[in-house]
This record gives sequence, C-alpha cells and structure tokens, in this order.
Amino acid sequence: MTTSQADTPLFIPPHAQPLTGDESFAYATWKFLRNPIEGFGPMAYGQPIVSVPSFGKKLHIITDPEGMNAVLSQDFKRFTKTAIDARILGPATKEGLLSVHGEQWKRQRKSVAPMFAKRHMSDLAPLITASMREFTDKLDTRPNIELNGAMAELTFDVLAKALLGDPQGLDKNRLKSATRNVLTSAGTLRPDDLLPLPKWVPRPISPKGASALRKLKKAADQLIAARKKEPQQNDLVSLLIHAEDTKTGRGLSPKEQRDNLIGFFIAGHETTALTLTWALYLVGMHAPTAARIREEVLSVCGEGDITYDDMERLPFTRAVIDETMRLYPPAPMLNRECHEETEILGRKIEVGDTFLLCNYVMHRTERLWDNPLAFDPDRFMRDPSLRAKGSAFMPFGAGPRICVGMAFALMEAVMALGTLVRDYDIEIPMGTFPRPLMTVTLRPEGGVPARLVRREL
Ligand code: HEM
Repeated sequence: MTTSQADTPLFIPPHAQPLTGDESFAYATWKFLRNPIEGFGPMAYGQPIVSVPSFGKKLHIITDPEGMNAVLSQDFKRFTKTAIDARILGPATKEGLLSVHGEQWKRQRKSVAPMFAKRHMSDLAPLITASMREFTDKLDTRPNIELNGAMAELTFDVLAKALLGDPQGLDKNRLKSATRNVLTSAGTLRPDDLLPLPKWVPRPISPKGASALRKLKKAADQLIAARKKEPQQNDLVSLLIHAEDTKTGRGLSPKEQRDNLIGFFIAGHETTALTLTWALYLVGMHAPTAARIREEVLSVCGEGDITYDDMERLPFTRAVIDETMRLYPPAPMLNRECHEETEILGRKIEVGDTFLLCNYVMHRTERLWDNPLAFDPDRFMRDPSLRAKGSAFMPFGAGPRICVGMAFALMEAVMALGTLVRDYDIEIPMGTFPRPLMTVTLRPEGGVPARLVRREL
C-alpha cells in the first residue's frame, strides 16, 4: 500500500528568516551583505517588484514569474549579466558560455547544445550508473560522511566520466580539488561583491584562490592539448575543440575552449551536488518520504540499475528533487543589467538599472505557493503544471539562457537520489538544522553530517 504524505505531518525545514520591515536600513543592509537571502522582508515577499535607488540608478528586486520571464525571455536582448557575475566568474571563465553575451554567446551555446540534447541522455545514463557504483563501494567502507562534500565527489566524478570522456592520465583528484578551491575562495560571494562597482574595478583574490585558479587553467589546457592529439570523440572536450560555426566556419578560440571547460567544471557539479545534499537531508529528516521513494524505485527497477527509460516512471522521486530545488534553489538569485530602456511590470526601466531576480523568495512566498515553508513533494504530484514553462518555479532560470545542463542534471539527481534512498538508510543526527547560506550557490552552512547504512533488500 502506498503511504500518503497527506496522512503524515509536514516537515518545515530550515529557512532564511525574513526581515520584519521594522529594521533600520543599516541593519537590513548588513543582513543582506552577510547572507543575501536573509536581506528580504515583507516588501519583497509581498510585492512582485520592489525598486530602490542605487547610486543614481535603480535596483529592481523581482520575485514574480511574469517579471522574471520578461527579463529572461521576452526582453532578454535588452539585458546582460551584471558586474557582480563578471567580478566573480570573470577570472575563471571570462570567455566562456556563463559569461559572454550577444553573437559570441549564441555561437558557443550552439556548439555545446548537442552534448545536452535529450536524445544524448540515454547514452550518458550508464556512465552515471558507473560513477554511482564506485561511490557506493566507497560508502560501504566509510558510512559516516558530510553530505555536501560527498555529493560533490560523486557529481564531479559523473562530470569527468560523462562529459569529459574520462580521459586516461587525467588526475581527477587534482582537478577536483583545484575546482573546489576556486569555488570556495575566488568563486565565493563576498560582501564587497554586492557593491555596485563597475566591471573594470579589479577584485582582489587570496593567494590560495589565485593558486587554485592557476592550477585549474593549467589542467584545462593539458586536457585540451592531450585531446587534440586524439581522434574526435562524442564528449564535451571534443565538441569544444571541433566546434564550427555553420555560417562562418569559425571555431572557438583557445581561450574560449579553456574558459568553457572551466565553466563546465564549475557549473556542472556544484549545483547538482547541492540539490542532492539538500534532498538527502530532507529525506533523512522525513521517514515517510524515504519509504515512498524506496517503494517507487523498487517497484520500477527492482534491485537493478535505474536507467534513462525509468525516469518517467519515477514521478515521486522527481517530485522530491523538484521540491528540494523549490526550497533550496542551488542558484538562489540571478542578476541582470538593462542596456535598452523598457517597461517591466508597469515600471519604466532605464539603461544602467540592475535587477536581482530572487527565485529563493519567489519559491517561498505565500503570494504564489500554499504552505510555502513546508517540505511537500506531493504539491508537484497534485499539480504538475507547477513546473511548467513560465511558472513560479525557476531553479534553472528561464528563456534562451536557461541552464544548458538541465536535462542532464535532472537525470543525474533522480538516478542518484533513487539509488541511494533505495539502498541505504539515511541517518541525520537529531537536531541537525543547517542554515541556508548564499555563497553564489545555496549551501548548508557548516555542511550536513550523515550516516548512510546499506539496507538488506
Ligand atoms: C541542479 C543543477 C543545476 C542548477 C540548479 C542550475 C542552474 C542554472 C541557472 C539558474 C542558470 C542560469 C543563470 C542565469 O541565467 O544567470 C544556469 C546556467 C548554466 N548552467 Fe546550470 N544548473 C545546474 C546544473 C548544470 C549542469 C549539470 C551543467 C553542465 C554540465 C550546467 C551548466 C550551465 C551553463 C554552461 C550555464 C550557462 C548557460 C548560458 O548562459 O547559456 N548547469 N544553470
């Protein structure tokens, strides 16, 4: 018999306490600079758009699907990413897809799109399974883990196998630690990043961050040089090397190739790792959800591997992934700057105005969601249109720049969560209640301790 979530009390997991609106401007700013998702109050939660003066221009905070879609889809050509993105991502991936705009972006996006096409996913699924096996072999000898670190290990390994072609001689551990060091030093949001400084103001990087960046660039260069000597293969490195614009015949420059590769190291594992970290935490804290995932996976796949064809037959496991990204969107806030005057949600937008597109708040406001603080995966089962294009659920962004790795990330997350929950008891120590902290991505502050004990099937 299927357990119904409706019969069991809903779990209210950790959330950023909104401001009350009575705080001083200085206190609210301090909260925002320390952890941006804690810097919003009744106005941002209660209204689709809040506009505040910012150094002679306006900063617009949007927490509404119509406004987000206007900026990211309908009007997308009038906007670019802001100096905040350029300052954080620029040193690592200035000429990569994450950072470029206009024709350069279009050309790069077209080059990498075949790697992420739906039809390619079934070829990649067995590589995810292979990484899962190696991961669970280690887990069986080392059941006490910190979830975020362990999930980053798993997703980095998946990235190397599935997208980089698991090259011989690649020192995966060195590459992984350089990427993690870049993410935790140079790639972590600091209070001064939120000041509206122009793009040309240099951003100081710690010696550790600078050294990690050098190592990462060297590793990417080596990977590309080695692959250039081999015949073309069906992976991302080959695609970047052999990309050719059908109209101009032009390929990607060496810097574009390297910056894209680094962009994929960064964007391709941390976000999925965080989705799995929060999902395992939520499932570990709510036994009825664990039981339902287990029952679903066992009924569809038995004790065997989860395959690409199984994806559609695991709607509850997918709903848990979606509900996790609603509560903890790995990219909790996007930003844009206006380059051509327009009107959004009835407001005049001028050149130089900036936008914070805050999906963390949009995913948790009572304006748009019933019982928004509760962990309730069944909301996506009751109403699948909650995840439709243009809806208030936007963990992957929207419009032409929507996450290029979305289908891959969803497949990986469902396969990993389904396998781990079917095969392991997820034990989270009592009283574990990690604060969601925005450091560009949304991490559980201090990590999440867990014990994963293999179940007798
Ligand atoms: C749960 C996992 C993921 C989440 C939540 C996520 C989220 C996002 C979001 C919100 C954006 C849009 C940023 C913006 O418009 O400013 C984005 C873009 C991007 N993502 Fe992901 N991502 C995930 C996984 C991945 C994976 C697995 C890859 C690659 C292997 C990837 C590669 C990229 C790239 C290259 C872009 C830039 C696309 C462009 O500008 O055209 N992401 N992602």
